[in-house]
Amino acid sequence: MRILLFTGKGGVGKTTVAAATATLAAKRSLKTLVVSTDTAHSLADALAVRPSEEPVEAAPGLYLQQVDTQRSLERHWGELQEYARNVFSELGLDEITSEEITVLPGAEEVIALLELREQARTGRWDVIVVDCAPTAETLRLLALPEALDWHVNRLLPIGRRVLKAVSPVIRHVAKISVPEGEVISAGERLHRGLLEIRELLTGDNASVRLVLTPEAVVVAEARRTLTSLSLYGYRVDAVIANRVFPAEGADEWRRAWVEAQVRHLTEVHESFAPLPVLTVPYLAAEPVGPAALAEVAEELYGTADPFARPSVEPPMRITADELSLALPLADRDDVDLARKGDELIVTAAPYRRVIALPSSLARRTISSAALRDGRLRVRFEAGGAK
Ligand SMILES: Nc1ncnc2c1ncn2[C@@H]1O[C@H](COP(=O)(O)OP(=O)(O)OP(=O)(O)O)[C@@H](O)[C@H]1O
Ligand SMILES: [Mg+2]
Repeated sequence: MRILLFTGKGGVGKTTVAAATATLAAKRSLKTLVVSTDTAHSLADALAVRPSEEPVEAAPGLYLQQVDTQRSLERHWGELQEYARNVFSELGLDEITSEEITVLPGAEEVIALLELREQARTGRWDVIVVDCAPTAETLRLLALPEALDWHVNRLLPIGRRVLKAVSPVIRHVAKISVPEGEVISAGERLHRGLLEIRELLTGDNASVRLVLTPEAVVVAEARRTLTSLSLYGYRVDAVIANRVFPAEGADEWRRAWVEAQVRHLTEVHESFAPLPVLTVPYLAAEPVGPAALAEVAEELYGTADPFARPSVEPPMRITADELSLALPLADRDDVDLARKGDELIVTAAPYRRVIALPSSLARRTISSAALRDGRLRVRFEAGGAK
């Protein structure tokens, strides 16, 4: 099963390109599901179907799923809500309702991803295409499983220890919120679910495609997105330049745009090399419906196989005495490294990742660290304790 994620700045054409790619997959007889983490119904609009919570067939072999965040929340987070409610009331805050929980940053996208995992598990799909939220949210969402992993790892064992040591009476008097056994297991279930999603999305069969338009502001943001996706361990396997003005027969107004776009496209090629840069022309009308989307996909991929396993390496590499992480386009001044026990904290401002060191490196002293050719290399001293 192949997973393709599409992200980029707001309005650049993520939904269109995701829907076009999914349409092409179905045309090539691959069982295809396209999912949106977006609460707007743009994906259904692009495919010209009614949004549906269960996968609905939009064209032969092409299914669309629009996650109903609220319903899904009730299914997945019931027990956690209960826990959150108790904590909030102990803190003297108003009782939190399930509607309010969805307002937590990233919660909606996380819920959409939990649904994605369920679909992936069915074994029903050859290709799953994900239309992600715009850049900033997507990054937070993609980082979330790992960030949560970090917190949950710390919190859960404490919860369990306290649970054993503290009797209900003391708990009442001390007014500390101790997760009940059942709730801990709900927390653990969620945690496991998130880990599975991360494995799925950073695994050998998943890759991210960065959508942009050839404009200065958009390109600048796409460059930062590439760095941060790599920081978090996601493979980016292509850049898609959408809305490229055709040069032929241009009047003066359009000629200015064509010239500016050519300049930005040159920069895109240089910046993102060796990634392929695929282009889609600015069409005369909005590409809506399977036929128009199939044409977009033709323009985009030509005869290439966009569903082959990604050939790009994972960003992180670990050898006997080195951990290295690709940070393409990262500015030296923005990169920082810190060590905290068995963890390495890598910052590529404004983003940060906590990496649990493998046991082979965890007890060894760092001998050097350098950022060279877009790769952070951390070397460890041979053998011995720290
Ligand atoms: N190559 C193109 N030519 C003409 N119109 C396009 C092209 N690509 C996208 N559009 C149109 O531009 C609009 C925005 O595209 P789309 O919804 O795919 O962007 P998006 O990145 O998903 O936006 P959002 O960030 O809001 O989710 C849509 O009306 C779409 O039909
Ligand atoms: Mg969209």
